[in-house]
Amino acid sequence: MKILHFSAECYPLAKVGGLADVVGALPNYQNKSGVDASVIMPFYQTKVVAKLKTKTVFKHAVKVGINTYDYSVEKIGKRRFGFSIYLLKIKGLTDREQVYGYDDDYLRFLTYQIAALHWIVEEKLKLDLVHIHDHHTGLIPFMMGYCKQFKDLNHIPTVLTIHNAQYQGQFGYDKFNLLPDFDQQHAGLLDWYGCINPLAAAVKCAWRVTTVSPSYMEEMARHANGLEGLLAHEKAKCSGIINGIDWNTWNPETDALLPKDYTHATVQSGKKASKKSLCDEFGLDVSKPLFIFIGRLVWEKGADLLPDIFKQVLMSERNNGNFLVLGSGNTEIEEQFNILAQEFKGIFNNHTGYNEALSHRMYAGGDFLLMPSRVEPCGLNQLYSMRYGTIPVVNNIGGLKDTIIDIEETNGFGIKHHEVSVVAVGNAIFRAQALFENKEEFKKNRKKIMKIDHSWDHSVKQYIHLYKSLTQSKNGQ
Ligand code: ADP
Ligand code: GLC
Repeated sequence: MKILHFSAECYPLAKVGGLADVVGALPNYQNKSGVDASVIMPFYQTKVVAKLKTKTVFKHAVKVGINTYDYSVEKIGKRRFGFSIYLLKIKGLTDREQVYGYDDDYLRFLTYQIAALHWIVEEKLKLDLVHIHDHHTGLIPFMMGYCKQFKDLNHIPTVLTIHNAQYQGQFGYDKFNLLPDFDQQHAGLLDWYGCINPLAAAVKCAWRVTTVSPSYMEEMARHANGLEGLLAHEKAKCSGIINGIDWNTWNPETDALLPKDYTHATVQSGKKASKKSLCDEFGLDVSKPLFIFIGRLVWEKGADLLPDIFKQVLMSERNNGNFLVLGSGNTEIEEQFNILAQEFKGIFNNHTGYNEALSHRMYAGGDFLLMPSRVEPCGLNQLYSMRYGTIPVVNNIGGLKDTIIDIEETNGFGIKHHEVSVVAVGNAIFRAQALFENKEEFKKNRKKIMKIDHSWDHSVKQYIHLYKSLTQSKNGQ
């Protein structure tokens, strides 16, 4: 079975968040399970991509509105990452360092989608299924189904995975002419509340829709940034499949970025070495429990509340913790962390920016991971932290709800709070500090979380089952 994943991110070539981790691992595990999976993504000028050797496999030009763009398809063979990656180089659009954040993002991703389908048609590629990820690739099912230029592809089943419904990629009808020609009676499929909405179009047009946890699928019926009604309407073709993690990249036994490798059997000494070097580096107190936060500083992650949460805990007489933050995003929040780092030197510090290597050292050196997310479709941080023996302290939503059991419950191992407020998160932090004091229980728990299997194996089986249901019957629509 030949599958092509369409994504704006793919680790290690271009990563902004968990989407990259998923698209950088899932195809590899699918290949190992007998599916021939590849990825097509834009050819950004990231530092990693600049160093790679690629082979030009196709060159052409594509018309978008009144403009014509030269494009080429560059290939990285299977041997490098375990699956083939096709990079779409579009002159003037993809040759930039950032993945997102430009005023013409709508045009960049639309042109990438049009050029990718153009390449498939021109090269007569035989695909059994197209798997798209998030809104940047959301117009693919519509274009495959209804654009005259791509009519040869309308029999190919399409699967949409929603990694985050908060972001939908809407643009106005003044850009309508950029779309390739299609039968106007289908124009309504593009529309959601008076805009062209790529995520809504994908929900309507994809043969199946998945999201990255069963709980997030349920939650989207109530909170999906305006798509609630649509998802309720399309419920029959929707399901939730929890993400796995790359078992090799995120492995404390082989992780070259750590001062000392460890397994669940050697977790005490292994984490001690990591914690010591982290505390030395950031001027923290190694005897106190170390709480870490790693993530985008945005409302969805509860990051706006973090400065107040930290302030309240750090000023409390009950507090016996250290805190270390790694993240970037909202500049006001970044500035508040800088102020806290001055005010609470020795027990609070932060690193503003994106730093993959530091994240590994933090997952290994931390005692607890904070994830006070308001929206968390799956969440990978809690899975990485458990693999490294760091106990998650999380809000009970989405993928966090599905992967963490509170320590007070049967077979529990983590700490959960049930709202995102200064008081609720503060109390959860104090519960974690009490657990840290109970040395035996704490150690037992560390070993326990390291043994939980969050590899891709189980989820890959579910995806393959879904693919087969579409490719074997071909009447999935
Ligand atoms: P999301 O995709 O919503 O940001 P996930 O939990 O799925 O959340 O994935 C986040 C990924 O990005 C993880 O691999 C995490 O370690 C990484 N990450 C987030 N912020 C940073 C940062 N500032 N530096 C390094 N890695 C980061
Ligand atoms: C999104 C979600 C996150 C999920 C990731 C990978 O970025 O916000 O919860 O883990 O996608 O699916």
